[in-house]
Amino acid sequence: MRVSYSSAALLLNGAFAVAQSTNGTGVTCPTSSKFSPTTASKFFANINPGWNVGNTLDAIETEGSWNNPPVVGSTFDDAKKAGFKSIRIPITWAYHFTSQSPDWKVDEKWLQRVSDVVDMVVQRDMWVVVNVHHDATTWADLTNAETNVTAVEERLGKLWKQIGTKLACKGEKVAFETINEIPGTTPEHGKEVNRLNNIFLQAINDAGGFNSQRVVTLVGAGEDGAKTSQWFEKPDAKFKNPWGIQYHYYSPYDFVFQAWGKTTWGSDADKASLEADIAAVRGNFTDIPLMIGEWAVSPTATETAARWRYFDFFIRTTSKYNTSTILWDNGADFLDRATHLWRDPVVMDIYRNAVKGIANALPDSTTDGTATKQESSAYIYHKKNETVANVTLPFFFNGNKLSKISLGSKQLASGKDFTVSGEKITFSAAYLRTILTPTSPLGPLANLTLAFNSGAALTVNILQYSIPTLSSTTSALPAAGTDLLIPITWAGQNRPAAVKAVKSDGTFLVDDWTQYLGPLQQARMTYNSQWDWTTEGLLIKAAALDVVRSGGKSTTFTIEFYPREEGNSVEYVVTV
Ligand SMILES: *[C@@H]1O[C@H](CO)[C@@H](O)[C@H](O)[C@H]1NC(C)=O
Ligand SMILES: *[C@@H]1O[C@H](CO)[C@@H](O)[C@H](O)[C@H]1NC(C)=O
Ligand SMILES: *[C@@H]1O[C@H](CO)[C@@H](O)[C@H](O)[C@H]1NC(C)=O
Ligand SMILES: *[C@@H]1O[C@H](CO)[C@@H](O)[C@H](O)[C@H]1NC(C)=O
Ligand SMILES: *[C@@H]1O[C@H](CO)[C@@H](O)[C@H](O)[C@H]1NC(C)=O
Ligand SMILES: *[C@@H]1O[C@H](CO)[C@@H](O)[C@H](O)[C@H]1NC(C)=O
Ligand SMILES: *[C@@H]1O[C@H](CO)[C@@H](O)[C@H](O)[C@H]1NC(C)=O
Repeated sequence: MRVSYSSAALLLNGAFAVAQSTNGTGVTCPTSSKFSPTTASKFFANINPGWNVGNTLDAIETEGSWNNPPVVGSTFDDAKKAGFKSIRIPITWAYHFTSQSPDWKVDEKWLQRVSDVVDMVVQRDMWVVVNVHHDATTWADLTNAETNVTAVEERLGKLWKQIGTKLACKGEKVAFETINEIPGTTPEHGKEVNRLNNIFLQAINDAGGFNSQRVVTLVGAGEDGAKTSQWFEKPDAKFKNPWGIQYHYYSPYDFVFQAWGKTTWGSDADKASLEADIAAVRGNFTDIPLMIGEWAVSPTATETAARWRYFDFFIRTTSKYNTSTILWDNGADFLDRATHLWRDPVVMDIYRNAVKGIANALPDSTTDGTATKQESSAYIYHKKNETVANVTLPFFFNGNKLSKISLGSKQLASGKDFTVSGEKITFSAAYLRTILTPTSPLGPLANLTLAFNSGAALTVNILQYSIPTLSSTTSALPAAGTDLLIPITWAGQNRPAAVKAVKSDGTFLVDDWTQYLGPLQQARMTYNSQWDWTTEGLLIKAAALDVVRSGGKSTTFTIEFYPREEGNSVEYVVTV
């Protein structure tokens, strides 16, 4: 059966040729639409590295509902200029159905919007992955006892038939992904996800057009590497689509999501564990193209030097195991879509060089879990009113040579402003005093750029700080369901590093087991779910305050700042 818009194309073009491989059903594409069949291997190699236009068409209930306005073409120009080759477009369909079972009709306007956004990317000669996103948790959650699996199968099939029909004649640069991170915890769930991959393939093949030759990224439960390794099965051989596997990687959880005061990363054990994860997925799928369709270490809440080293190591490791990657960006992470600026330009430079296999010089930073203080060579932290002294920072040159250090267009004098000994750079007090004057304000004062003969340029941020102050140091527990804002007069890096919570009897408010972690992590809470911050101060989330309420004990919150060192913190007591 032909859908009406093919007939419209017939009328418009005046000529009509049968497209390749429609398997006799669905859309027939006009001769004007081009499709050069590609292999999954080539597609997966070509998309690397990619960028997710996150929190956009996936927002609930629709595009614009979250922190980003509707996407515009120039955002994809920004991504392309930054070196990205592909865009994953996460899309939530759940709130765009206009009918229920058995047809599950999708609003034509929404299908058109998706088609238009796909075109914006393809017009810029980039590759695309289109998916079904938060539907995974709104109506396809296999772990929810209420979920009617028959209805999930029916709905996913009907949905992909409509997406497949709408996008049937898009070129070979457009790929489809079954479903994003569908929850599943048992081998039975794993089997069901395999069935859904087949239902998806049947639906897009039935939709016709070029879909029988279109590249697809199939998934396992949760798009989790280990679960996919355990339960994934190849699709039915009747489908001729080139295919590979997509999974996601956000690990270690504590560092990536700033849980339990984990602001360090990069020990040999950290690296070995990351490599083992990536190697295990490759080890299970030796001859299948692989992509990590989401990963990130956001500048929002991670320590700079640790983040730079993670990016470098993650990209080198995924390359080693021949796995392509697509960076997650929720709009508050990397690209500031309004200003077109990347919030952490150095990490982007490290990333681009690592993708090409070029060695980067990197800053050293604390990795020892038993440390009481965190050092970072991405900063020269100067405490206000202390004497300015020479500062020595260790780096990993990784075979590169330092070619120059500059501040804007002004080059620093080697031997006078700084000296290099091995892979340590000492900045002289005399030079630092030109920036750190008695009247310099608190906060970031200058970025020194360290250029090397090869690889990314690094920056060292000269930042003056003192201990932030609170206008009040105690209050009563607020009403249930409300967050508590603790106003802070910031005094350097205007964000907290970690928050410790200890009850009046000396026990930890949450996660008692953190007593087995190092001194920078014991009794620390988790960013986002338990605390957050605004320009005004620290937010203790209602969820954490509920724990105070149920525990019935006044609780001391120790708010710690960067640099993480003895005394750079303030205390606030919530009384019950
Ligand atoms: C990497 O994987 C692609 C498929 O994604 C394959 O074409 C290529 O040969 C692989 N390269 C190496 C070095 O294994
Ligand atoms: C489950 O979904 C199917 C397909 O929509 C439907 O026929 C069936 O009645 C549903 N079962 C229940 C228990 O609701
Ligand atoms: C294509 O059509 C044949 C014959 O009807 C059928 O056996 C086969 O399953 C179809 N292939 C797909 C991918 O639907
Ligand atoms: C396959 O994956 C499992 C689960 O992650 C892992 O334990 C196993 O080592 C992997 N196998 C290979 C050959 O890498
Ligand atoms: C620094 O010293 C000045 C002058 O003694 C004093 O007024 C100011 O409060 C001090 N600032 C800090 C952050 O210690
Ligand atoms: C500080 O650095 C300068 C210039 O590199 C050097 O001459 C001086 O000896 C250093 N001072 C100390 C205390 O190390
Ligand atoms: C230095 O770079 C950081 C990160 O890009 C930026 O936030 C800061 O404003 C820059 N300038 C100064 C003077 O610190």
